[in-house]
Amino acid sequence: MAAAPWPHASVLPEAALQWLAIKPGGVYIDGTAGAGGHSALIAAALDPDGRLLALDRDPTAVALARERLAPWPQATVIHANYGDLEQVVAEYKIESADGILIDAGVSSMQIDSHDRGFSFQGDGPLDMRMNPESGAPAAVLLASMSEADIAGLLREYGDVGPAKRIARRIAERARAGSLRRTGDLSEAVAEALDFVQGTPKEVRTVFQAVRIAVNEEFRWLASGLHGAVRFLKPGGRLVAIAFHSAEDRIVKNVLRETSRKQKRLTRDGRVAETIPPSMRVLTPSPVCPSEEEIAMNPRAKSARLRAGEKLPPEE
Ligand SMILES: C[S@@+](CC[C@H](N)C(=O)[O-])C[C@H]1O[C@@H](n2cnc3c(N)ncnc32)[C@H](O)[C@@H]1O
Repeated sequence: MAAAPWPHASVLPEAALQWLAIKPGGVYIDGTAGAGGHSALIAAALDPDGRLLALDRDPTAVALARERLAPWPQATVIHANYGDLEQVVAEYKIESADGILIDAGVSSMQIDSHDRGFSFQGDGPLDMRMNPESGAPAAVLLASMSEADIAGLLREYGDVGPAKRIARRIAERARAGSLRRTGDLSEAVAEALDFVQGTPKEVRTVFQAVRIAVNEEFRWLASGLHGAVRFLKPGGRLVAIAFHSAEDRIVKNVLRETSRKQKRLTRDGRVAETIPPSMRVLTPSPVCPSEEEIAMNPRAKSARLRAGEKLPPEE
């Protein structure tokens, strides 16, 4: 594996391609174009009749992916949230897809651009929005929340142990107007845990939790996966890569739910309808990166890939 010339090294590239089982003339959607790495692999496997729509909610990623995918006229890069897949495909007059990829989470470009505010390693505005044209920056969101809600967010999205202590300090700083920069958030954590020598390890998980909340990542992931399941052709493949255990749980649950018979109940608890399974799980346990990949790209370490296949409708 050669070092990537692009600012984000795609995770599990061979596995993603293998599980997508690309048909050269097929229609593919990459919900998270990023630096266009997975998209370029998909595009290169398509013949001139194939089609790829690559979406990203981050306009910087869209510009980069457009540059990378320029050699393939089959690829169109679109500034959109994959949660809005159904509107996007309607606009592009696509009726169904042979494969959909979602590589959730954050890109190296986002983490490494300190002016985006994603990282505690470097000072920048406390923003963290993947789409700077939508939603509230982290500083504004935190200032609008109660101490209890901040603690809930830290627990739910970061599994932060001393959530209450840290939330109190974050809320105090927000009230005092001293929660504007990434350095302010790191200091809030250090002040709350002043018995810890050096930078507390919780700083990383606090940043992760705030980022997930700012971008409503779990909500979009769940709705995006359900949208993807609906939009696949029979035999079409869904491949999702998660980096966080709660994110992986969402992927696992969507695949599990859609691969079982579901009962729709009436208000008084009677079975109104039995919905047949729409997916088949292809990966009973998640696919993880090799030691070699982790050595080349340490950010791949927590990646988990799961795949499913759309079933034909029941007669
Ligand atoms: C891990 S990176 C993807 C990297 C890409 N697969 C590659 O090979 O270069 C995740 C990307 O997903 C984007 N993203 C996250 N949530 C999104 C959403 N709901 N809709 C569209 N893009 C999203 C982020 O902006 C980021 O660029």
